[in-house]
Amino acid sequence: MNEFVELADWFGWRAPHEPEVVDSLPTPTFTVKDRPRISFSTNNYLGIATSPRTKAAATRGIKAYGVGNSDSRLLGGNLALYGELERKIARSNGKSHAILFATGYLTNLGALSTLPRATQIARVFGFTASREYSYAYFSDEYNHISIREGMRLSGARRYSYHHVDLDHLETLLRRSTATSKIIVTDGVFSQDGDIAPIPDLLRLAERWDALVYVDDAHGTGVLGASGGGVVEHFKAASERLIYMGTLSKAYGSIGGYIAAHGLITEVLRMACPAYGFTATLPPDQAMVISTAIDVVRDEPERRQRLWDNQRYFVKRMAELNYKLVATETPIVPIWLGDEAKAEQLALAVREEGIHVDAIRFPAVPIKSARLRIQLNAGHRRADIDHLVDVLRRHQHLAEPARRFVAASRDRLGYSGQWRPANAPVCAENSDSAMLVMKTAKNRS
Ligand SMILES: Cc1ncc(COP(=O)(O)O)c(C=O)c1O
Repeated sequence: MNEFVELADWFGWRAPHEPEVVDSLPTPTFTVKDRPRISFSTNNYLGIATSPRTKAAATRGIKAYGVGNSDSRLLGGNLALYGELERKIARSNGKSHAILFATGYLTNLGALSTLPRATQIARVFGFTASREYSYAYFSDEYNHISIREGMRLSGARRYSYHHVDLDHLETLLRRSTATSKIIVTDGVFSQDGDIAPIPDLLRLAERWDALVYVDDAHGTGVLGASGGGVVEHFKAASERLIYMGTLSKAYGSIGGYIAAHGLITEVLRMACPAYGFTATLPPDQAMVISTAIDVVRDEPERRQRLWDNQRYFVKRMAELNYKLVATETPIVPIWLGDEAKAEQLALAVREEGIHVDAIRFPAVPIKSARLRIQLNAGHRRADIDHLVDVLRRHQHLAEPARRFVAASRDRLGYSGQWRPANAPVCAENSDSAMLVMKTAKNRS
């Protein structure tokens, strides 16, 4: 028990940070204690979570099947609609196969922890490989925590490369003796808003015989001519590509998936405990997701409004003296650096009826705090103007500021996310969220 007393004290459990209780969810307007607010930090980019079509699909699903699936698909829970949805997802991602998981987090945790262990798991059932395989992950340092946790659980060697630094990645690939190499990246970096250079990563994968695993949680439904995500954005196609998407953001529901060559999805279906040993999505949500894919296709005006708003906000922000971490996607983070200033600015904005998330350690490194602005299809010009006006009044908090900074670690001057103090970037990375939180706290 003592270790938990110490730990809970360290976390400040007696005065915990209580997230605000809301009365409704952002569409992007919502209410808190009966007062209206507008969110500039919601993942419901296209408003699909409350679209009449998705709500009708949920109602039909509940009427037909009830509210949940209490079984695994490997046992009694394999309704035909899951397979149909997987085929639809595969088609919409230009892949032959897809596999569904209960959440996006679980998709990364399950797939990344399983791929390097699948041979080992099969061995228990009598499989003998023709040779000895060894695995290594090569992961962008800003990747989402679900990626890092998945890789850690795999037991494979892990190398962290500097954010979007292809030279560094290639050095690590060249040095590696692993027989199976997997490069892993966010498609759109969730706290920085920049886009991974997928074609360049695929070129390196070709040269070094690797696979590329892309987590496109914030790109799915948002990027690309028809919302096909980062792969459509770059018109990239390769059998080396393992595409991961989440269904909780632009698609407004819950769940995650891998779309890839059938070899990958079927190995996961057989060997991944996070697929086989857990209940799957409720059937009504599978019907919602199928409808959400249609909504993204048939209602392009949602994506048009999102991108018009993105461009308008970026243009208006050029009048102010803030640093924007990136301006390529609907995630446009405003750099503050100092945690207290970020909180202060978020609070000041909230007092004007606008919700923005202050992103701070441990989601980003210490002294890298920012306001993560996420543009939305439902914002009106007047909402954006209001936000810009409020930011104008408080811009002293961001001083000294330059207008734009690239999201490169050297230019931002911080030493990399989640990395223990003494761990060299190119070395095998043994971090975990807890370990690094503790290390970073000791440093501060
Ligand atoms: C890059 C990235 N990957 C995965 C996830 C997890 O997705 P979900 O919330 O659907 O489980 C998130 C969620 O924030 C994310 O930003």
